[in-house]
Amino acid sequence: MEKVIPTRIEAFELLKEYTSNPSLLRHALAVESVMRHFAGVLGEPDREKWGVIGLAHDLDYERHPESHCKKVREILTEKRWPEEYIRAIESHGWKLCTDVEPREPMEKALYAVDELTGLISAVAILRPSKSVLDLTAKSVKKKWKDKAFAAGVNRSVIEEGAKSLGMELDVLIAETIRGMQDVAEEIGLKGE
Ligand SMILES: [Fe+2]
Repeated sequence: MEKVIPTRIEAFELLKEYTSNPSLLRHALAVESVMRHFAGVLGEPDREKWGVIGLAHDLDYERHPESHCKKVREILTEKRWPEEYIRAIESHGWKLCTDVEPREPMEKALYAVDELTGLISAVAILRPSKSVLDLTAKSVKKKWKDKAFAAGVNRSVIEEGAKSLGMELDVLIAETIRGMQDVAEEIGLKGE
């Protein structure tokens, strides 16, 4: 069957069909923006594709938590999304919910930034400004070693992601903050 390249609007509509939790939607928008930003950083021309993959990466999480990263193949195959998109989305849960290893730069970036956006949000919300706009990588690094802080964020996944991208952790954090700043308002981190 002919594959269909999903537009950003179609991807967002599909995400909203499967997701009602506002914090999951904010997470999706954060990862989308960071993926678009990383396409630029890594010199990849198709920022739309990177963004769509970021936006849709947790599509199956709310309705199918027990088969997260697996159910998404079924959903997107039916929508005739290209294999490249489906594989990238599957691979973000490598060793956590799938055995699909990130290979392409797009896959490695998604793997590296997914958990990191959660840590950055947690740090930003606790600041007096409650904003990501004035947040530095240094502030995030300070909380990095405090394992009790945002304990659900898997630091070793982020480290492994940085390594596979060939990027210093500090650079990965700084660029992820930058990507989130572009949608600060939409993700509720613009502050007062
Ligand atoms: Fe995610």
